[in-house]
Amino acid sequence: MCGIIGYIGKKNSIPRLINGLKTLEYRGYDSAGIAYVKDNKIKIIKEAGKIANLEKLLEDKDSSNIGIGHTRWATHGGATSNNAHPHKQGHITLVHNGIIENYQELKDMLIDNGYKFNSDTDTEVACAYIDYLYRENKDIVESLDKCNSIFKGSYAFGIIVDDDYDSLYAVRKNSPLIIGIGDNENYIASDVPAILDYTNKYTLLNNYDIAKITKDKVTVYNNLKEVSKDILTYNIDKSVRDINGYDHYMLKEINEQSIILNNLIKNYDSKDKILKNIKDYTKYNKIFIVACGSAYHAGVVSKYMIEKYADIEVNVEIASEFRYKKLFIDNNTLVIAISQSGETADTLASVRIAKELGAHTLGIINVEESSIAREVDDVIYTKAGIEVAVATTKGYTTQVFILSMLALSLAIRKNINIDKDIFNKIRLVPNLINSLLDRKYNYLTKILKKKNDIFFLGRNIDYASVLEASLKLKEITYIHSEAYAAGELKHGTISLIEDDTPVISLVTNKDIAEKTISNIKETIARGAYSIIIATKDIDIPKDSYNDLIRIDRTVDLLQPILNIIPLQLIAYNVAKSKGCDIDKPRNLAKSVTVE
Ligand code: G6P
Repeated sequence: MCGIIGYIGKKNSIPRLINGLKTLEYRGYDSAGIAYVKDNKIKIIKEAGKIANLEKLLEDKDSSNIGIGHTRWATHGGATSNNAHPHKQGHITLVHNGIIENYQELKDMLIDNGYKFNSDTDTEVACAYIDYLYRENKDIVESLDKCNSIFKGSYAFGIIVDDDYDSLYAVRKNSPLIIGIGDNENYIASDVPAILDYTNKYTLLNNYDIAKITKDKVTVYNNLKEVSKDILTYNIDKSVRDINGYDHYMLKEINEQSIILNNLIKNYDSKDKILKNIKDYTKYNKIFIVACGSAYHAGVVSKYMIEKYADIEVNVEIASEFRYKKLFIDNNTLVIAISQSGETADTLASVRIAKELGAHTLGIINVEESSIAREVDDVIYTKAGIEVAVATTKGYTTQVFILSMLALSLAIRKNINIDKDIFNKIRLVPNLINSLLDRKYNYLTKILKKKNDIFFLGRNIDYASVLEASLKLKEITYIHSEAYAAGELKHGTISLIEDDTPVISLVTNKDIAEKTISNIKETIARGAYSIIIATKDIDIPKDSYNDLIRIDRTVDLLQPILNIIPLQLIAYNVAKSKGCDIDKPRNLAKSVTVE
C-alpha cells in the first residue's frame, strides 16, 4: 500500500526518488508522483498507472537536491493523476500513506476559509490544513504537532515547506515511516529496503514523532520536545532482492522455501533448542490468534495444531473483525498476532486492544523492527527474508512452521506424548519440499486457465490449507475460487457444480480421508472435474479423481507446509499462462497499512 520516499543531500534527488519508488512497487499502487525544487519553486510530476508512465514525463536535465515521491494505492478518489501524490496547498507539498478519517469536516472548514481543492483525496485536505495552521504560526513543527491532535486515522507524511528548501519534514501515526541516514544525505522511506542502494543506517519514528531532516542532521520532536533516536543498521544483504534469473519474484520465493526452512529448522530441531527459543506460554488457558489474509490462514492451520498437540483452546479471528467485537480476553489469555509485514493496520490495532484488555501478546512477524514487532510483548521472527511478490508464499510457510513449533513447545512443556523421532522427521522436511519444486503441472494448467470458477475442498487441517490455496489462486489468476470444508459444500454451494467445474481436494488425513472422498464423489456425480492432492499413504479410489497429485507424508505438524507447495505452483503456472501481472496483481497491496 502507498509508498513514500524522500531525499535531501548534495546529489540529484530525482533518480533516487524513482529508484526508491521502484523498490516500493511491491507494496501495491495505481499511480505515482514526485515533487522537487526547480528554480526555487516546487515542481510536481505525477501520473496514473505504473512508474514507467511517470518516467516518461520526467525532464532529463532537471536536477534537485531535495525531493519527495509516492506510490498511491487509491482509497479516497480514483487512480487518476489529479488524485496522485504529491499534493501542494499554499506553502506545503506533501505525500501521505494512510487515511485521514475526519477529512470531510476539515475540508468544509477549509473551503469556508478560501481553500480550493483539485482532487478527491483526504491527503489534499491534510496538506491544506497544515498550510492553514502554518500560515498562522509560521512554525512547521508546531503546526504538525497540532495536526497530531486534530487528524483522526493514520498517516505517514513526507513534507517540503516552501520557506525552507533545506529541510524535509516527516511525521507518522500508525503508518510506517523510517529515516535513512546517509553520508551528507538523508532519506525518508516507508521501509528500509527502499533506500538500501544508498545506506543501511536508519532511525525509526514512533507515533506522533515529527522529524526535521537536513542533509546532515536529523532532529526529532515528540510533543514539541526534542527526543534522541538510536541509529540502527539493517543487516539483510540487498542482493536478496535480486530476482536471480527467475521469471517472477513469486517463483523465486516459492523456490526459496526449502532453503529458508532448512535454516529456520536449525533453531528448533531439538527439545533444548525449542525450549530455549520459544518462551513458556503454558500458564495461559486460552489463545486468540489475530491476523489478515494468508497470515490468518496460517492461524487457522495452527489452531488445529495447537489444540491437537497442546490441548489448549484456540480462537482464530480476522483482525478487522476482532477489533470491533466483544472480546472475552483477560490476563490469562495469550493473543498471537501473525503478520509478514508487521505493519497491517488491523492486526496492529488488534494487538493494542488485546494489551488494553490485559492479555499477553506474542507476534509471529517477518519484518524486524516493524510496528507490530515493536508493540507486542514477545516476538518470534519467521526469518523468511524480504518477500517481494504481493502473494505471500515463503512468508506463509515460515509462519506455519513457527506456529507448529509453538504447538510443539507447549506439548513438550505440558509433558504431552510426542513422537520420539519427531526431530529427525522435521529435519527431512526441506528435502521433501525440494522434491515438489520442479513440478510444472502443464496439463492441469491448460485445463484450469479456461475456467471461471474453481472450488477447493478439505476437512480439518486440510480445509485450513485449502483456504490458503484458494486465496493464492484467486489473487494472482483472477479466477473466482472458493474453499469449503468438504462436508459443508452440500449445504448450498454444490448447486454451483456443473459439468467440468474443477474441484481441487486435499486429502492428507488418513482418519477422515473416506469422508472427504465421499464428498468428492458427490461433486463428481454432478459433473465436477476432480483433482485430488493426497499423501502417498492414503488409498484414493480411481473413480474419485480425474487427476491425482501425490505428496510425501511427513510429521502432522509440518504436513501443511508440504501441502501448500503444489497449490502455490499451480496458482503460479495458471497465472503465468494467462499472462497476469503475477508479482503485482491488480488492486492488491503487499502491506495493508489502512483499515
Ligand atoms: C495483504 C497481502 C497478503 C497478506 C495480508 C496480511 O493482503 O497481500 O499476502 O497475507 O496482507 O499481511 P501481513 O503482512 O500482516 O502478513
